[in-house]
Amino acid sequence: MHVILLGAPGSGKGTQAVTLSKRLAIAHIASGDLFREEQAKGTELGRLAKQYMERGELVPNEVTIKMILGRIGRADCAKGYILDGFPRTMEQGMALDAALAKEGKGGIDRVVYIKVSDGELLTRLGGRWICRAAQHPYHVVNNPPKTAGKCDIDGSALYQRADDSEETARKRLEVYHQQTAPLVQHYKEQGVLTEVDGQQSIEKVALRLASALQ
Ligand code: AP5
Ligand code: MG
Repeated sequence: MHVILLGAPGSGKGTQAVTLSKRLAIAHIASGDLFREEQAKGTELGRLAKQYMERGELVPNEVTIKMILGRIGRADCAKGYILDGFPRTMEQGMALDAALAKEGKGGIDRVVYIKVSDGELLTRLGGRWICRAAQHPYHVVNNPPKTAGKCDIDGSALYQRADDSEETARKRLEVYHQQTAPLVQHYKEQGVLTEVDGQQSIEKVALRLASALQ
């Protein structure tokens, strides 16, 4: 099963993908998480990505496409995957379609577009904390950890992403509307898009996602 979670920064892609990937027993591939892992390891790719991420801009298509196509070719993706944060431009979408067609693995089964208003997105990003070990997301009000400052799942320390500052979050939203939003129409035309109201509780969004993927 090949699933894409499409939505603006803060729409809940990561939050939903963590539980959904467990339930469907398929891999969760998050482009932003992969770039942050490369930064933590101090690789050349990490250093390159950091320059764009800290400005709230997209990492160049060529680098991002190579990283994701390499990642989905690995053994843990054989049964399928949930893509979170990729594709984010029409060029990335086309590259993914072409790669799947070439491998004869069938196309994208479902794209779930999680729709949330910009005002709500800024509130969510401003209050988000994520964990050091696996980037599990929390929110100071909407989804607090059981123990302050610690991840419920792996116990690692929580921190705030530098690109969640208000200025960078606004820039990321602008980039989303310009470069990523056109993918909604692209997948609508392919007949694989389901729109989910992301401005409900985390549990209600999860139920809507589950029924979209049945
Ligand atoms: P990335 O890490 O992908 O960030 P993003 O798309 O901006 O998305 P977020 O992770 O901010 O939001 P999310 O939808 O995962 O929300 P979450 O579940 O955490 O990308 C970062 C950067 O990397 C990019 O800016 C770019 O530079 C680069 N990059 C990544 N992919 C790229 C690509 N394909 N091409 C080029 N560059 C790329 O939830 C947010 C908060 O809300 C949390 O606090 C959560 O607890 C809370 N919350 C979640 N759901 C709900 C709910 N239903 N109600 C209330 N609160 C909720
Ligand atoms: Mg995320």
